[in-house]
Amino acid sequence: MTRTTPDAARIERAVQDALQAWGREPTQLLQVLRHAQEPLGFLPPAALERIAAELHVPIARVRGVMAFYSFLYPASPGTYRVLFSDNITDRMRGSTDRLREMSQRLWVEPGKVSEDGLVSLDRTSSIGLCDHAPAVLVNGRPVPDVDAARAAQLCDLILASVPLEEWPPELFVVEDKVRRADVLLNDPLRPGEAIRAALARGQASGTGPQATLDEIKAARLLGRGGAGFTTGVKWESCSRQPVTPRVVVCNADEGEPGTFKDRLLLGRHADMVFEGMTVAAYGIGASQGFVYLRGEYRYLLDALQATLERRRRDGLLGKDICGQAGFDFDIRIHVGAGSYVCGEASALVESLEGKRGIPRNRPPRLAEKGYLGRPTIVNNVESYCTSALILLHGADWFRSRGTARSSGTKLLSVSGDCARPGIYEYPLGVTVREVLADCGAAGTIAVQAGGPSGVCIGQDEFDRRIAFEDIETGGAFIVFDGSRDMFEVARHFAHFFAHESCGFCTPCRVGTSLLRNLMDKIRDGKGSLHDLNTIEELATLLHHASHCGLGESAGRPLLGTLQRFRPAYERRLGSHAVEPAFDLDGALARARRMTGRDDPGAHLGEPK
Ligand SMILES: Cc1cc2nc3c(=O)[nH]c(=O)nc-3n(C[C@H](O)[C@H](O)[C@H](O)COP(=O)(O)O)c2cc1C
Ligand code: SF4
Repeated sequence: MTRTTPDAARIERAVQDALQAWGREPTQLLQVLRHAQEPLGFLPPAALERIAAELHVPIARVRGVMAFYSFLYPASPGTYRVLFSDNITDRMRGSTDRLREMSQRLWVEPGKVSEDGLVSLDRTSSIGLCDHAPAVLVNGRPVPDVDAARAAQLCDLILASVPLEEWPPELFVVEDKVRRADVLLNDPLRPGEAIRAALARGQASGTGPQATLDEIKAARLLGRGGAGFTTGVKWESCSRQPVTPRVVVCNADEGEPGTFKDRLLLGRHADMVFEGMTVAAYGIGASQGFVYLRGEYRYLLDALQATLERRRRDGLLGKDICGQAGFDFDIRIHVGAGSYVCGEASALVESLEGKRGIPRNRPPRLAEKGYLGRPTIVNNVESYCTSALILLHGADWFRSRGTARSSGTKLLSVSGDCARPGIYEYPLGVTVREVLADCGAAGTIAVQAGGPSGVCIGQDEFDRRIAFEDIETGGAFIVFDGSRDMFEVARHFAHFFAHESCGFCTPCRVGTSLLRNLMDKIRDGKGSLHDLNTIEELATLLHHASHCGLGESAGRPLLGTLQRFRPAYERRLGSHAVEPAFDLDGALARARRMTGRDDPGAHLGEPK
């Protein structure tokens, strides 16, 4: 990191290092930008020009990509860049107070860089540490559990300009809180076991890779990333495409606020993730693999790379994997740069291709035309882990857990108002009430399952089940007790969606902003019944008219809380008639002062 603009030699070195690591293909643009930024702290115009020239892409494209990703900086964010995670769980645990305290101590306004260029403070969407809220990233490194004492310690270190490498290591320790383990988290899968089982199954049946596809289909595995698509169908459809090479992509973007189970799998069970990707590659006949790791998890990268290296040495990646002639497959890790919509599978593929993460039109589906037009599967981290276990133990074993329609177990990321936040693995079909009892929740009034784009569950629904036939969730399970104001929760989610909308389609770009503004208007006591109706109409319109899942779900938390916690909205309403958000009479006060008039005739309506 640097406070001043780096000189030409430093810029050139950073650009050349990035090019050496990633090559000169335009598809590597995002990775080259990200890599070059690491030693420079930001991307000065000279670096952008050099990268554009080396990759033979227009400078406008480079600038467009840069502007899309919030972790690419056009100006120095200071020697220390402190980003506060801004999930509702962080706010519930005092992040607003911590931000204010640090802002006062460091003499810097949130969103700005201090005048001496030492430090910047800002908020960012959830960083996947809701079990350690409030949490911050300092120059990309996570600092969990930031209470007042820890915030003061961070300020001391920053003000004394202590280099990050010399900070007490315990500040960065992220403890994995596994509260309940079942087959996935308990299973001591040895590297290579599932691959050998898949090869053996293919040999025994005489059907080769088809046996892998058959086993996954027989297991009735539904994707663990939230949408619940049938994994076997996706894989088989990809395997039938005439085009090669085919591509396996692991979606490790984990951007849904409230979810942090993939962090655990990537940190503790990386072999299982890679093993699942490798059996998928065998099944669909892929030779190329990618992990799309969210930028907020950059700190996991070195350990993941080391695991990949070990697997290459052990013959579990590369050529003729496990001695199977012609089974060639390898995995590369791409790191994201702070964009929630890039978790959407087609946006993710765009981002992998070095572009802005704008969701694609479908058809064609990714299984037909994905990464660089090649047949591609995109699955969640947990889906790959589960696939490895299915290949090892068989479909019957997998189906023996869960419900008839939802086989197997599911990891839940539990956070919010409970005594024991952390990761819980349950057979699908577990009731909300059971989870609440296990995590030590008391006086719960609501659970937000699946994060902001999921569902809000009220007290009368706690006997409902976490299962694809009832409550679908990618894993987030946020608990709210009676001290929480569900209107404020929904307002926070409205801000989240307005901030994360990629702006590509009008219903979402405009609709999410209107919803945010309406919620702010109600918070300010200026809302009316008419506004509540407008919220319902807008949320429905967004659901039907948006281009991708982000816009489709952006109104859900508002509809859910309006249905279950309507009094929290109604008690804030200024009047039951139409009430403008803008105070026109107030806005004319300056003109009245200038003209020396304050008589009733100079006011609109009643003088105030
Ligand atoms: C806005 C948005 C964000 C998403 N984020 C993620 C994510 O972080 N991780 C994930 O696995 N799926 C995410 N998805 C779902 C993916 O589009 C896709 O369905 C999933 O990766 C497929 O994997 P699965 O079938 O194994 O669940 C997101 C979808 C949308 C619309
Ligand atoms: S729905 Fe929203 S996030 Fe999705 S493409 Fe449209 S503007 Fe972008």
